[in-house]
Amino acid sequence: MEQYVIKGGTALSGEVEISGAKNAALGILAGAIMTDETVTIENLPNVKDINVLIGAIEDIGAAVERVDEHTVKINGKSINRLSVDYEYIKKIRASYYLMGALLGKYKSAEVALPGGCLIGSRPIDLHVKGLKALGANVDVSYGLWSARADRLVGNHIYLDKVSVGATINIMLAAALAEGKTTIENAAKEPHVVDVASFLNSMGANIRGAGTDVIRIVGVPKLHGTTYAVIPDQIEAGTYMCAAAATHGDVLIKNVIPKHLEATSAKLIEAGCIIEEYDDAVRVIGKGRKLSSTHITTLPYPGFPTDMQPEITAVLAISEGTSTVTESIFENRFKYVDELARMGANIKVEGTVAIVTGVEKYTGARVQAPDLRAGAALIIAGLSADGITVIDDIKYIQRGYEDIVGKFVKLGADMAEVDSEHDLQKFKLKVS
Ligand code: EPZ
Repeated sequence: MEQYVIKGGTALSGEVEISGAKNAALGILAGAIMTDETVTIENLPNVKDINVLIGAIEDIGAAVERVDEHTVKINGKSINRLSVDYEYIKKIRASYYLMGALLGKYKSAEVALPGGCLIGSRPIDLHVKGLKALGANVDVSYGLWSARADRLVGNHIYLDKVSVGATINIMLAAALAEGKTTIENAAKEPHVVDVASFLNSMGANIRGAGTDVIRIVGVPKLHGTTYAVIPDQIEAGTYMCAAAATHGDVLIKNVIPKHLEATSAKLIEAGCIIEEYDDAVRVIGKGRKLSSTHITTLPYPGFPTDMQPEITAVLAISEGTSTVTESIFENRFKYVDELARMGANIKVEGTVAIVTGVEKYTGARVQAPDLRAGAALIIAGLSADGITVIDDIKYIQRGYEDIVGKFVKLGADMAEVDSEHDLQKFKLKVS
C-alpha cells in the first residue's frame, strides 16, 4: 500500500516550480477533440486525472501522441464513438467535458452520469439547462446523460449558481453552435479564462471570459493550434501554505501572482510576508508569528474552496481562534477529524469550522479523504513534531505532480513508501 511518510519540523526553503493547471488542462483536453486538425497542448501537469482523461479521449477514437511528459498532440479526426464510459467518469468527473465537446462537434453525445463525490453532491442540472437552451434534447436516465440536436443554436443562458463545470461545458458546445450565446453569471476562475483562450486559439469567438458575462459567437469549424496551459493556482497555493506552516521561506516560481491574490491576502493576515514578482511569489514565514483570521470560500476572485483545507491546516497552528466558512461544497471538512488526530482543535458546525490554534501538530497515521484534504494533511505533517504517515495517497496523486520530489527539494524529510520495510527504513534514516 502506497503511503507518504513525513518527518516534520523542517522549515521549508528554496525554490519550487509550479506545474500546469489541472483544472484548466481538463477543459482544454476535451476541447482539443473539437477539430479534425492536430492540437498540441503544452505544460500539461503529469498527474493521474489528466492521464485518465487522455485515456477517455483515446477510447473514443481520437489519435493521441505523447510528445513528452508535459506535451500531447491530439487529433480528433478519427473519433468513432460518441459515448464516454462510466469507467472514466467514476475516476474523474471532468470527463464530462467531453459532453460539451462532442455535442458541439457532432451534435450528439452520451456520457455516463457522474453522481456525487467525496466533497459533496455535485449535481449537473446547470450543464443540462445550458445544453437544452442551445437546442439539444437532453435525456438523463439509466445512468447516462445523453444529448442530441439537429442544430445547436446560440441562446441566452443564466446560471442560477456560479459553476465552473457548467460554464466550461456550455462554452465548449456553444463555440460550434449557430449564432450568439450569452452565459450570464458565468464562473470567472482562471481555468475558465484559459479554456476560452485555448478555444479562441482554435478559431472560436469567445469574449468576456473572466467576467460575469461570456459572449460566444459560434463558428462553423475550429482549427488546430499549439497552446500552453496556465500554471496551477491551487498547487501554488498549497506550497504557499506549506511555507507558512513550517515557518519557511520559499520562492514559488512559474505562477500568475494575480491568481493567488486571495491566498496571499489571507496568509498576510495570518502574519506571513509575501513578495510578488512577475511570475513568482515568495512566502516568508520564517521568524513570523502566525495568528488567526477568518475565511469564507467563494467563487473566483473569492477565496477558492480548493484552498480551504490547506489554509485551515495553517490556521490550526496559528494563535487565536479562526473561522473557516465553506460555501461551495457541503462535505469538505472531512479532513478535520484527521487533523484532530494530529492535535488540531477544530469544531465544525454546519458550514463553519471554528479553529482554535494549537502550538503544534504531533505526527500520526492519517488518511487522505480527498485531493485537497490530502494536501492539508501533508502541510500538517511537514510542520508536525514527529512522523506522519498518510494513507490513501491516490487522491493526492490525482492532482499534484511530483509532490514528494518538490517538497524534498525544499528540504522536507518526506518519502513515498509502499511497504512496511520501506517505512521502517525511512524512520531509521530520519531518527
Ligand atoms: C470545479 O468543479 C473544480 N473541478 C473543483 O476542483 C472546484 O472545487 C470547483 O470547480 C469550485 O471551484 C474542475 O475544474 C475539474 P462547480 P465543478 O460546478 O466544476 C453547484 C479540485 O480539487 N452546481 O463550480 O464541479 C455545485 O454543487 C476540484 O481540483 C450545481 O448546483 O464545480 C457547487 O455547489 C474539486 N449544479 C457549485 O455549483 C450544477 O449543474 C460550484 O460547483 C453544477 C454545479
